[in-house]
Amino acid sequence: MTEYAKVLVDPKSGANGSKQLAYRDQALHLDGVCVDTIAAAVPTPFYCYSSDAIRTAYLTLSGALEPVGAAICFAVKANGNLSVLGLLASLGSGMDIVSGGELERALAAGVPASKIIFSGVGKTRSEIGRALEVGIHQFNIESEAELDAVADVARVLGVRAPVALRVNPDVDAGTHAKISTGKKDDKFGIAFQDIPALYAKASSAPELDPVGLAVHIGSQILDLSPYRAAYARIADLVTLLRSRNLSVRRLDLGGGIGIPYDDGPSADVAEYATIVRATVGRLDCELTVEPGRWLVGPAGILVTEVLYVKKTGDRLTVIVDAGMNDLMRPAIYGAVHPVFPLKQHNDRKSHIYQLAGPVCESSDIFGTYRNLPGLRSGDRLAFGCAGAYGASMASTYNARDLAAEVLVDGDRFGVVRRRQTVEALLSLEKETEWQVAAVASAASIRKAL
Ligand code: LLP
Repeated sequence: MTEYAKVLVDPKSGANGSKQLAYRDQALHLDGVCVDTIAAAVPTPFYCYSSDAIRTAYLTLSGALEPVGAAICFAVKANGNLSVLGLLASLGSGMDIVSGGELERALAAGVPASKIIFSGVGKTRSEIGRALEVGIHQFNIESEAELDAVADVARVLGVRAPVALRVNPDVDAGTHAKISTGKKDDKFGIAFQDIPALYAKASSAPELDPVGLAVHIGSQILDLSPYRAAYARIADLVTLLRSRNLSVRRLDLGGGIGIPYDDGPSADVAEYATIVRATVGRLDCELTVEPGRWLVGPAGILVTEVLYVKKTGDRLTVIVDAGMNDLMRPAIYGAVHPVFPLKQHNDRKSHIYQLAGPVCESSDIFGTYRNLPGLRSGDRLAFGCAGAYGASMASTYNARDLAAEVLVDGDRFGVVRRRQTVEALLSLEKETEWQVAAVASAASIRKAL
């Protein structure tokens, strides 16, 4: 077992208490299924999710939030697989979406429109129209221009749009710069000082129903104190708006609760609930949170196979068949995911390896890992904590297939997204008419000669 294996195997240090990944008879199991058995049936690379881990995470978080009465809307961007959404919906989760595509995903997974919140800085008029037609719970508005667009579309459709204003509280979430969203220079939200006037404007528009405020300060937040600062500012705003006779019924507190990708401490959701209660608990508002990573991150692995081991300068580099197109987080955030060999080889001497993918980019590197057993072509590995922002961020760069996704439940497993084929990829493309004509005329000239 690598030093990283502790992260998921030790329930005390496990992200959100996840215990679903463990070695039995020296073989890695996810819930009751041997991961190698799946790999014998599904070509690598593939993602694999534990239903039990998702269920446990949802029930733990909803249990912690129950006393403060906060509902959960899962952030679809973290993992939009229909089976994952369906599982969460069956537990009672609503959904937080950021595009028309995510709206269709949530609806296709059976989520009632009345449990869907539409976030995101750039909603198009057609996305707004579709969301109004199906009757979503609320739009989180990110600018005055967007508020006007929602009002326009609602007027044309003859409906009233429920809107919450997303506040930029100018609070540093203390997270990676690329996933911070709550500082004044970030592109997200409406400046704190602009909220009262805009809320009053929304209240006077007949096609808008201003329901409250929203805030989301960033992602992968392990030290929870920035939440206290941000929610305290929201509470001040609620008091101010109400003092101006503006009704504030709902608060959407965003997502962002972090998970450990190493054996560091997990964010404590009971402490999070305490912060919610202390800051906004007495305002008599309907509360919602939008977690993504915390619910599904620890539940997923990305299974890959060693292609080649080569020497690069002074180090040993292992080329695996998963690349940055499958799991982008290491390349774009410098994230390091734990790695678990599918089989423990106690007889093999351990090495320090750099793990790299096959994509033609120098940044297609997963990191340097210590204490992995001697690796050979054909050995299989799993990247842990890959259930969030893994498959959902994958691309077809280098004309690589989108990986399959597998769901495990107890001792069963099923493919919940089949691997995309290169034929499917190519079927979207065609030559222009003039290219086809040029080829045809070149052929006829050749024939005439
Ligand atoms: N609500 C809003 C408005 C968001 O923008 C996000 C994430 C969430 C909720 C969910 O945040 P979570 O609970 O998952 O932290 N690709 C990056 C993460 C980007 C997060 C973007 N917004 C990563 O792989 O770390």
